[in-house]
Amino acid sequence: MTAEQAQERIQALTSELERHTYYYYVLNQPEISDELFDQLLRELADLEAEYPWFASPDSPTQRVGSDLTKNFEQVKHKYPMLSLGNTYSIEEVADFHQRVCKLLENNEPEYICELKFDGLAISLSYENGRLKRAVTRGDGVKGDNVTNNIRTIKSIPLKLQGDFPNDFEIRGEILMPFSAFDALNKEREEVGEQPFANPRNAAAGSLKMQDPTEVAKRKLDGYMYFVVGDNLPFTNHLESLQQAKTWGFKISDFTKKCTSINEIFDYINYWDKERKTLPIATDGVVIKVNDFQQQKTLGFTAKSPRWAIAYKFKAESVSTPLLSVDFQVGRTGIVTPVANLQPVLLAGTIVKRASLHNADIISALDLHYGDWVFVEKGGEIIPKITGIDPNKRIETADFVKFITHCPECGTPLIREEGEAGFYCPNEWGCPPQQRGKLEHFIGRKMMDIDSLGEGKIEILYDNGLVKTAADLYKLTYDQLLGIEKTFEDENGNVRKVSFREKSTENILKGIEKSKSVPFERVLYSLGIRYVGETVAKTLAKHFKNIESLKKATFDELILVKDIGEKIAQSIIKWFQVEQNIILINELKNNDIKLEIQQNETEITSDILSGKIIVISGVFQHFSREEMKAAIENNGGKNASSISKKTSFIVAGDNMGPSKYQTAQELNIPIVAEDEFLQMIHLDHQS
Ligand code: IVH
Repeated sequence: MTAEQAQERIQALTSELERHTYYYYVLNQPEISDELFDQLLRELADLEAEYPWFASPDSPTQRVGSDLTKNFEQVKHKYPMLSLGNTYSIEEVADFHQRVCKLLENNEPEYICELKFDGLAISLSYENGRLKRAVTRGDGVKGDNVTNNIRTIKSIPLKLQGDFPNDFEIRGEILMPFSAFDALNKEREEVGEQPFANPRNAAAGSLKMQDPTEVAKRKLDGYMYFVVGDNLPFTNHLESLQQAKTWGFKISDFTKKCTSINEIFDYINYWDKERKTLPIATDGVVIKVNDFQQQKTLGFTAKSPRWAIAYKFKAESVSTPLLSVDFQVGRTGIVTPVANLQPVLLAGTIVKRASLHNADIISALDLHYGDWVFVEKGGEIIPKITGIDPNKRIETADFVKFITHCPECGTPLIREEGEAGFYCPNEWGCPPQQRGKLEHFIGRKMMDIDSLGEGKIEILYDNGLVKTAADLYKLTYDQLLGIEKTFEDENGNVRKVSFREKSTENILKGIEKSKSVPFERVLYSLGIRYVGETVAKTLAKHFKNIESLKKATFDELILVKDIGEKIAQSIIKWFQVEQNIILINELKNNDIKLEIQQNETEITSDILSGKIIVISGVFQHFSREEMKAAIENNGGKNASSISKKTSFIVAGDNMGPSKYQTAQELNIPIVAEDEFLQMIHLDHQS
């Protein structure tokens, strides 16, 4: 390829990928498969690596983020970022309308009603159609420059389409969709990290991370609602949103023009209920005067515009007496206080329990037994206690004290410096921790023993058959058959579960199958604090086997990409515990994969660069997927059918006769598996 051709191809790929990013992330209407998208992206990345001078700083390949930003620079907003007057009262919305009409000398204005997104405000500056800077609201005058992190959000255009002004700012909200929030919290809980309380906190926490590659994984989204600039080419707010949409921004489809106060009320009432069906968090409605001339007449107060108001939805709240507090011990030993409440109806469901989070929250509430507490369901999924009613306190009531010893095993609790939670350090002797470790071990992304589940693990544990993951591999058919457990279900009915022939066989089969789970997932399944799916993958790739990881020093660990001090310390600590060493030795004796397999190793070379390779038949050393990966890892391209362009065919056993015939006709060389291994220097491993 000549330099000129490369430049043309880079430009073509860039604009094509930009278009697909827009279709996928903004319109939610992907035109091509993820696979094809990744293929085009890889082609672009390869070309950019070869011809870096043709690579644009806004290239779609840059969206995964690369440079580490150590501290955020503070920048002054060109136009201050004002907030809005807030109200929870419909009457005050009517007052706002009266005020507006009066100031406009009884000219009834047109309003634009919008959803109030519950995330983090951002201001994006564009110059000549390119994203120049992204700054958080900060104190309204200056904010944090988070451009590198914002660049990783796929619905934020880096380069605009259509007819846009050369210099303007656009403001909006960065959000974490509920689905991403749930997945993130699940992951955090799995590795012993405190989950985020709500999607807003999760979005804010993500945007303030130092490593953009981590931000890229957080699946943030961005909705825009306000265009700012001098001499903008529109006369009202609705037009500005419609235009911004054509430039590539994600603008809510639920914006509505209202010409009377009753229409505004209808909009509010509709969305107060309907917002529960949205994929993102909203906490109210924003009502804006549409016409810019009228906005100008109305002007601003010191803090907010007079032409807009935010009506906030009321979080439903009820009060009910606190009956008792349970202290629950989780898989990682964290003790969570849970309030048992007199059952009460809240937002359509009966609430009996609410999390009290930690000791600090209990003190801050000054909580006493028997107190009437206010329970709310706001942005949070789990109801939360927001306060107490001091007038209803029983004088002799005792203060709720945080326990000092584990309620399950009696071990004194520990609180680490800087942490809000107490935890039980008896990780190998405390029943919920032992059970939790087993449940984690069999999980889908870990050892994937789906014939066992939480319930069955409990039965095995309660019958004294398993205490550690290694015990699973000692189970026999005779031990399992017929064991049973009687328990009370949610409705108070007594139920009995027992293992019959079929389920016993399935359990044993599932356990046996888990022996082929690759090392990276075994590592994840061990439940080392802070070692989640991604970290486990990184560690497995780097250290190759458990012995090298065990021997790794703190300094060696923190040199590995993405491994910080907290993770390194946790790994070192884990290997210092005798029971953990016993566990890995027993797992090893049971043929669990504690080292990376040769064909899992990603070999990156360009030996097959420019070659288009077709595979056919069954291979001895590779599955078909592994063979395709081996081709790509060495710079080749795998194609599914033979053509004149095919460089050669790698043939395993039972090569398809029609492929053989086509290869003969087109004179395409056929290479045996061993020959191929030699080619990519894997012959010594066969
Ligand atoms: S307009 C000068 N529109 O709510 C007016 N704000 O309480 C600029 N917000 O700081 C803001 N959704 O972070 C506007 N559709 C929307 C909004 C919205 C959420 C946030 C924004 C603002 C805060 C004010």
